[in-house]
Amino acid sequence: MTAQADGSAGAPAGVSADVDWEALRLRAVELMERAYAPYSRFRVGVAGLVDDGRVVAGCNVENAAYGVALCAECGMVSELHATGGGRLTAVFCVGSDGRALMPCGRCRQLLWENGGPECLLMTPEGVLPMTAVLPQAFGVDDLRHAEG
Ligand code: THU
Repeated sequence: MTAQADGSAGAPAGVSADVDWEALRLRAVELMERAYAPYSRFRVGVAGLVDDGRVVAGCNVENAAYGVALCAECGMVSELHATGGGRLTAVFCVGSDGRALMPCGRCRQLLWENGGPECLLMTPEGVLPMTAVLPQAFGVDDLRHAEG
């Protein structure tokens, strides 16, 4: 299945047609079912396509010290680097209903670092590029500029 079948009306023309969004969603749901979320009971799963064709994924992992909770995206980014690195090109994050869930602000920053402006995200409003999901993002270029 390609982007339009799940209501991705916002897909930029021509950029997401080759992404199997349903396969990503199913992988994200698989991971969501493995979430360790005994405190919030809010299970999250995420799957990302890497530029070499790999799929990496993660689920949220909570802790009795609540603030220590790891978002699902943290696990996915860890798998990305642990299995050889590369760039995320498409990401699907789901909640327990299996529908698209917007990553929290911190995780949008993680996606920016590891996917950049062209990375696509499935949102409740369809496929959007990271430039729409995290406008005017802080990134490595800002570090360089600030060095003077
Ligand atoms: N959570 C994620 O895993 N990813 C997000 O982008 C949003 C929030 C998790 C963290 C916590 O375990 C639970 O959802 C409730 O906030």
